[in-house]
Amino acid sequence: MRKSKRLDKIPPYLFVKIEEKKAELVKKGIDVIDFGIGDPDLPTPEHIISKMREVLPTTEAENYPTSKGEPLFRKAVADWYKKRFNVLLDPATEVCALIGSKEGLAHLPLAFVDPGDVTLVPDPSYPVYKISTILAGGEPYLIPLVPDLKKIPANIVKRAKLLYINYPNNPTAAVAEKDFFEQCVNFCRENNILLVSDLAYSEMGYDGYKPISVLEIPGAKEVTIEFHSLSKTYNMTGWRIGMAVGNKDAVSALATIKSNIDSGVFKAIQLAAITALSSSQDCVAQNNLFFQERRDVLYDGLSSLGFKLPKPKATFYMWVPVPKGETSASFTEKLLDKCGILVVPGSGYGPSGEGYVRFAFTIPKERIKLAIKRLKDANLHS
Ligand SMILES: Cc1ncc(COP(=O)(O)O)c(C=O)c1O
Repeated sequence: MRKSKRLDKIPPYLFVKIEEKKAELVKKGIDVIDFGIGDPDLPTPEHIISKMREVLPTTEAENYPTSKGEPLFRKAVADWYKKRFNVLLDPATEVCALIGSKEGLAHLPLAFVDPGDVTLVPDPSYPVYKISTILAGGEPYLIPLVPDLKKIPANIVKRAKLLYINYPNNPTAAVAEKDFFEQCVNFCRENNILLVSDLAYSEMGYDGYKPISVLEIPGAKEVTIEFHSLSKTYNMTGWRIGMAVGNKDAVSALATIKSNIDSGVFKAIQLAAITALSSSQDCVAQNNLFFQERRDVLYDGLSSLGFKLPKPKATFYMWVPVPKGETSASFTEKLLDKCGILVVPGSGYGPSGEGYVRFAFTIPKERIKLAIKRLKDANLHS
């Protein structure tokens, strides 16, 4: 068996290693408090599940779906974008269903990146942008999370095909405002680059904060494809459904790749997703109150131990600087070995993530309180 050289270029997926480490400890009988992968522990709202139950036995659900998505799903996405962001989308040409946004993000470079092309990837960031660029034969060029776009060397800009942005941000929980998005849109228009906006966390805002879509910027649709997902909004990570929207040529190019690789999302899931998008969004507000309470418990606890960080306005992540003398890896290991606390080393998201660890507050607040107690008892102060 001779594997491809491509395979050698990709490190093991960050969470595979972390899950292995956790399994090892659990096997030893250790009660691991898991702040690792960002997977909501709250249930999918009942009205979405009951729609799924209703359509499962019907013939409507059982055949091959179209890889671009059912027309009614695409319309529900367009209606939701209009209601939520006041962005108009043509469901026929500007919306494509995805098997989770990770799938779409991972396939996008196959439609845009040739060997030798560059993609502009924030450092730190969700690892899929970088790896999918490499899989397509391209070169990720790392830029700061809040880049000064004018400082990117001209020869790099010339070779760049994609600029990735992700606000609210994983792993840092940073948020961005309209003027930054305007700069990105102008930069992409001037340099003939596709702006790739990953909006997976737009519905997880706290204290009244409501993230915006890049597509709200006038003219953005000329240069932007935006990725979204029902995963985090409705506690549906395992259902695998998301959407790509925006520039019709970009959406169509992605759909061409997809139509040769997958056959779309199970129709019953698309029908349940229509219910999620078109029903009352009270369940989302309710969810956010849960996460906001957990955020406060974790933030207050870490602050009381001397950790200094901004209070996240969105996402369920906390980006925590490690104590002096530690690295991301050494602190992650110490947390696991001394406290049974699992976090993700910031360095896994890029070199600029060194010096941080990421906590995902996707566990009950009692467990968060227990983690703070363990930290205090182990004297792991900042
Ligand atoms: C920034 C970001 N984008 C995309 C995704 C993918 O989400 P999904 O494939 O479940 O839609 C994630 C998942 O953690 C994420 O953090």
